[in-house]
Amino acid sequence: MSRLNLAILLVCGLLVGALAAVAVIPDVRNRVFPEGSTRAVGQALVGGPFTLTDHTGRKVTDQDYRGKFMLVFFGFTYCPDVCPTALQTMAAALEMLGPKAERLVPLFITVDPERDTPEQLAQYVSSFSPKLVGLTGTRPEIDTVLKEYRVYAQKVEDPKSTAGYTMNHSSIVYIMGPDGAYRTHFTHATGAETMAERLAKLL
Ligand code: NI
Repeated sequence: MSRLNLAILLVCGLLVGALAAVAVIPDVRNRVFPEGSTRAVGQALVGGPFTLTDHTGRKVTDQDYRGKFMLVFFGFTYCPDVCPTALQTMAAALEMLGPKAERLVPLFITVDPERDTPEQLAQYVSSFSPKLVGLTGTRPEIDTVLKEYRVYAQKVEDPKSTAGYTMNHSSIVYIMGPDGAYRTHFTHATGAETMAERLAKLL
């Protein structure tokens, strides 16, 4: 065995030993990954500052919602089924929460700012819940928030839809804390009751 191979073997051995110590010994684990550090990682991965326009035409930033939990869903008003279902679920969960729902603001951010003007959004969001806030913006403003929330959105040709296209997009509902940091998320499969139960525990 060459000296280099021996050195590599030694380093590997040390690494395996260190990883095993972190995995097995709680005290070591707590020192390497202090309590709450998973949330810190989540904060870094999802969310961030944004400047958008709400459905009343008012310029807003993420700072405007500090102090409240944000329920963030991305979609578009011309969506045939995914968005209406998700927004109905969100609205139903808010109803179930009762007065507790005052502690959160549900946001619907468009992935299709070309068609989703504030006027278009105003009509759309009011059909689900008077609490629901629709947000749109310029293409760069929307691109920024999509990137921050790691949302996939892709224009797809569709002759049946207005302007000849539809949008494929991810349908995750993000829950951000009153500090603006990521807390948890729901998938499209989460029902209104489960959503309300989990939110009640957070609020
Ligand atoms: Ni949709």
